[in-house]
Amino acid sequence: MVASGTIVEEILELKQQRQAILLAHHYQEAEIQELADSIGDSLELARRAREIEGRVIAFCGVWFMAETAKLLNPHRIVVAPDREAGCSLVDASPAGQVRAYRRRNPGHVIVSYVNTSVEVKAESDILCTSRNAVRVVNSIPREKTVLFLPDRNLGLWVQRQTGRDNMKIWQGACIVHATFTSRRLAAARVEHPGAVVAAHPECPEEVLHQADFVGSTSAIVDWCARTDAQEFIVLTESGISYSLARRAPGKRFVFIPNEECNCSECPYMKLNTLEKLRDCLRDLEPRVEVPEETARRALLPLERMLALR
Ligand code: 13P
Ligand code: SF4
Repeated sequence: MVASGTIVEEILELKQQRQAILLAHHYQEAEIQELADSIGDSLELARRAREIEGRVIAFCGVWFMAETAKLLNPHRIVVAPDREAGCSLVDASPAGQVRAYRRRNPGHVIVSYVNTSVEVKAESDILCTSRNAVRVVNSIPREKTVLFLPDRNLGLWVQRQTGRDNMKIWQGACIVHATFTSRRLAAARVEHPGAVVAAHPECPEEVLHQADFVGSTSAIVDWCARTDAQEFIVLTESGISYSLARRAPGKRFVFIPNEECNCSECPYMKLNTLEKLRDCLRDLEPRVEVPEETARRALLPLERMLALR
């Protein structure tokens, strides 16, 4: 029950007026996830962006995710609470460098993680998310050389899963996941000796080797709900605890601090607030706009990924 006059009520009213749907990534604040029509990982949200009815999409996540929603919904208005909600992986893969690589290596197949700018997507042959990256790379003929970009830890993990030698890996990293260390994991294991470990594949190899399960954010939630274990050390952004509590009530989840912020929060994801969500629904700004030609070229590798079920 929502108290009258609260910001939550304002958001719900604006949402109705605008015929807006609200999509939220697992890393958003709980109060935002609470209001969402759909919560998911980046692959699920990309699919749902196209399936759900509405004139406006309010995307609570980071900017590249809102851009993906726009590519799939060119005729809808797509807004996001904060234009500065970026991603260190987007910063690590400037479009000019990817274009130059492509020119130098015309025969290589460029597989880009969705955590890239729309300009980089436009230079790519196929996209992937952490959920389908192995499937995407396996869909490419083995004799072809693959460039995987921009996350080096996800790239190395995919290389181990696929056993593929001819894979070049870009050297980008996620500021949240890349600084989880085995030292901190070991300390958590001492405190929680019965806990099993679930990790996102953006974590370093030394940590992934010790994980009982490796997968995307939604895959982690599914696994924690499904498996018999009662206590989990979770190596990803702590916003996921909202979905974990809903899907696996009564189970215990421990988040370890990384070496970057001594926390497990993504500073970009956490830029979004209820106030900014209200303002973007009211003003229909910041709005995602993608130049037509870039959108046309970026949509092709996105559709190739989505066609791989
Ligand atoms: P997911 O695709 O697992 O949601 O991951 C997105 C992301 O940004 C992880 O840091
Ligand atoms: Fe980017 Fe890492 Fe934040 Fe995910 S958690 S949005 S990869 S900086």
